[in-house]
Amino acid sequence: MLDIKFYPREQLKAKPTDESKLGFGKIFTDYMFLMNYEAGRGWFDPRIVPYGPLSLDPSCMVFHYAQEMFEGLKAYRTADGKIQLFRPQKNIERMNNTNRRMCIPEVDPDDALQAIKAIVECEKDWVPHSVGTSLYIRPFIIATDAQLGVHPSKTYLFAIILSPVGSYYAAGINPVKIFVETEYVRAVRGGTGFAKVGGNYAASLIGQAKAEKLGYAQVLWLDGIEHKYIDEVGAMNVFFVIDGEVITPALDEGNILPGVTRASCIELLRSWGYKVTERRLALSEVIEASKNGKLDEAFGTGTAAVISPIGELVDETDRIVLNGGEIGPIAQKLYDNLTGIQWGTVKDSLGWVEPVI
Ligand code: COI
Repeated sequence: MLDIKFYPREQLKAKPTDESKLGFGKIFTDYMFLMNYEAGRGWFDPRIVPYGPLSLDPSCMVFHYAQEMFEGLKAYRTADGKIQLFRPQKNIERMNNTNRRMCIPEVDPDDALQAIKAIVECEKDWVPHSVGTSLYIRPFIIATDAQLGVHPSKTYLFAIILSPVGSYYAAGINPVKIFVETEYVRAVRGGTGFAKVGGNYAASLIGQAKAEKLGYAQVLWLDGIEHKYIDEVGAMNVFFVIDGEVITPALDEGNILPGVTRASCIELLRSWGYKVTERRLALSEVIEASKNGKLDEAFGTGTAAVISPIGELVDETDRIVLNGGEIGPIAQKLYDNLTGIQWGTVKDSLGWVEPVI
């Protein structure tokens, strides 16, 4: 159990007045959670302090060797005024899986949950009210040893910052256009693809920039060895519905982020009787299915992206328009049920919701 100290700020910020313009991750709340780590001492000094710049030595390891990790989850306001989290234990489990891969010390899962709940409760007035909005929670850990040798750091800073958000894509729930990247790769077996680390996203920027220049919202990454099999879209996992079967790339190669939304969609779909298969899926199979009229729909899943239908998929030679550029029935059903559970309008029969207040 953490003994979290609170350091009040003199003046609170003005809260956003127009929740339809929140976008994603542009506004931050009044406070943040911080906690330090030293080898031999463990995690110490948990505190909630005014949100603001961190003072770090320029030689800190995180700046040079990217020893860091992050997570992403959300707090939702229900119609009856409660604030709740969605499966935070899953994020905490993934956080510690990432920590092990990155030689970052693990955080006690109960302490991590307590810290998340404490900062969300402190900032409860920042949880937006409008449909489609939430308070995005970004826990992260950075290596703070001030030295340039390449070794795991002995000191770390764990922080949690909060941002009231609307939809991740400007298109909202409308289908997004995705560019298939065939030159660069995001992850390879044995690498950090399954971990939530900034380096994965840094490596993806060149593809993302190329896609944006061509008018696409995101990049579809293929496997790093054969450039043949579908991995993920960086900010989301992907699902394809071929001839009634829902297919999503399997996690066993270690290239793909094990998304909490991905896992939840698989569980929901199976509970509704859909056939869901986790396996290798070649891009050529998707193209073939499209040509044969068997590609019913495709969508991405993620905490930030929620359920994001894919309206168009383009590589160097093929352009696939899915479901006439409209959201498909399975994506719509998942969106309605998942967000319903999160916003408290659909019964949480699977016990996924964790109350804060
Ligand atoms: C999330 O969905 O929470 C993410 O972290 C994806 C992206 C914004 C990096």
